[in-house]
Amino acid sequence: MNSDFKYHISRRDLLVAGAGLAVSASLPPARASTVDERSIKIAPGQTRLGGSDRPSTAVWAYNSAVPGPKLRLRQGRSVRITVENGLDEDTTVHWHGIRLPNAMDGVPGLTQPPIKPGETFVYEFTPPDAGTFWYHPHTDSLVQLGRGLAGPLIVDEAEPVLVDRDLLWLLQDWRLAADGQIAGGFGGAMDASMSGRVGNAVTINGRAPADLGVRTGERVRLRLVNAALARMMALRFEGHRPIVVAIDGQPCDPHEPENGRLLLAPAMRIDIALDMQGDPGSRHAVIDDFYGGLAYTLTNLAYDKVSPLRAHPLDASVGLPRNPLPEPDLANAMHHEIVLQGGMMGGGKLAGVGGMPGMGMPGMNGGAAWAINGMSMTGDGHAGMAPQFTLERGASCHLTMRNETAWWHPMHVHGFSLSVLSRNGAPVPHRQWQDTVLMAPKDVIECAFVADNPGDWMLHCHVADHQMAGLMTVFRVK
Ligand code: C2O
Ligand code: CU
Ligand code: CU
Repeated sequence: MNSDFKYHISRRDLLVAGAGLAVSASLPPARASTVDERSIKIAPGQTRLGGSDRPSTAVWAYNSAVPGPKLRLRQGRSVRITVENGLDEDTTVHWHGIRLPNAMDGVPGLTQPPIKPGETFVYEFTPPDAGTFWYHPHTDSLVQLGRGLAGPLIVDEAEPVLVDRDLLWLLQDWRLAADGQIAGGFGGAMDASMSGRVGNAVTINGRAPADLGVRTGERVRLRLVNAALARMMALRFEGHRPIVVAIDGQPCDPHEPENGRLLLAPAMRIDIALDMQGDPGSRHAVIDDFYGGLAYTLTNLAYDKVSPLRAHPLDASVGLPRNPLPEPDLANAMHHEIVLQGGMMGGGKLAGVGGMPGMGMPGMNGGAAWAINGMSMTGDGHAGMAPQFTLERGASCHLTMRNETAWWHPMHVHGFSLSVLSRNGAPVPHRQWQDTVLMAPKDVIECAFVADNPGDWMLHCHVADHQMAGLMTVFRVK
C-alpha cells in the first residue's frame, strides 16, 4: 500500500466516513461553494504604456490595471462578479462573447440600469463555452474603451489542453498626443463616418511590445484579442505557420489562415497553436499589414540560445473540444436580413442614411452617419429601441448581412454565436462560429443560429465610432 496514503485523507473525509451515509445526505448542498467570486473596481488611474522608463498616461482602469485583470473562469462553473463604479460617469460591463442570461449582458437601459458613480452591480452567470473572451464597458463605449477599459476573459476547458505555454495578447490601439496623453476629440465626424478612431500606438497587454522570448520546439497556444476601437489587424508570423484552432472563443477545424495572415478586426479573438520551429538564437518579426503601405512590426519572436525543448514538434493534436452550441435547423429557419448603410462614399459624399429626415451634418455631435435597414440607433443601445425582428424561443434564424457601404465592419451579435455559412456565395470552409464577423465593403454573409436565449439582444458594428453613429440594432427572442 502507498505509504503516503494517509496524508491524502482530510479530517472532513474521516468525519464523513466515520458517520456513514446519513451524515453525507444531510450535508448542505455543494452549490454555495461552486460559485467563484471576483470583484472589479473601475476608476481613473495611470499606466506606462511605453514601459517603466516612459512617462505615464492617464487612463481609466479595471482594478488599476490596463488591460483589466485576466479573469480565468471554468466552463460550466458559476461566477459572481461585483463591479464597483469609481468613475464620474455611468458605466456597465459587457462580457463579450459569453452566452449568458440577458440580464447579465451589460447593455444600459436595455438589459440593466447603468451603474451610477459610486454604485455597484453584481453580475452572475455560468459560462457554457470554454474559450477566449473579453470584457468592456457598454456605456459611453467610445470614450470608456478608448481610455483603456478592456480586459481578457478566459474560460478554461474542463480537461486541460496539451501545450507548453498558454499566452494571451490583448491588443489595444491608442491615439496619443505628443505629451503621451490620450488625445481628446472622441467622436469626431471624420472618424464616425469613415474608418473610426484608428490610433498611433499599439500595445500588447498594455505595454509597447518588447520581443517575446520563445524556445525552439515548444508549442504555444496564443490567444489574440483585438480590443482596439477601430484598428483592423492582419498578423503574419514570419518563418512560422500558425494554426487557427478557435475563432471568437469557439473551436474550429484547425487550419492555416489564408496567405498566413490572421485577420483580426476589433472585438475578434483568434486562438492559434504555434510550434516554435526557429533556430535557437534566431529572431522573427510579427507583422501587421492590414492597411496597405502602413505595415509595421508589432513584435518579434526571439529564440533562446538554449538547446531545443524537443527535437520534433509535439505530436498531440492541436484541435480543441467543441463547445455545446445548438446546431441551427436550416430547413426550418426564419430568414432575416440586415443591410448596412451609410458612411462616406467616394468623392467625400456621405451616403444617404434613411429614417433621419432633415438630418443636417450626419456623424456630427452624436448624430447618425450609418443605418441598419434604414434605421439609425445611436449611442450605446438604450431603452426604447424597437426590435428589428423577433424570434420565437428555440427557432433557428438564418441571417443575411449585407454590407452596402464602402467600409469594413466587424458585426457583433450579443448572446449568441453565429454559425457562419457563406461569404459572397462561397461556403466558409472551417465550420466556424463567430460572435463578431468581419465584413469587407460590399460583402454578403449568410449565417445562422438557434434563438435559445430569451431577451433583447444587440447587433452592432464593433468599430466604436460606427456603433455610436448608428450602426447598431436590436432583436428580440421571446
Ligand atoms: Cu463587445 Cu456590444 O459588444
Ligand atoms: Cu458583445
Ligand atoms: Cu463599422
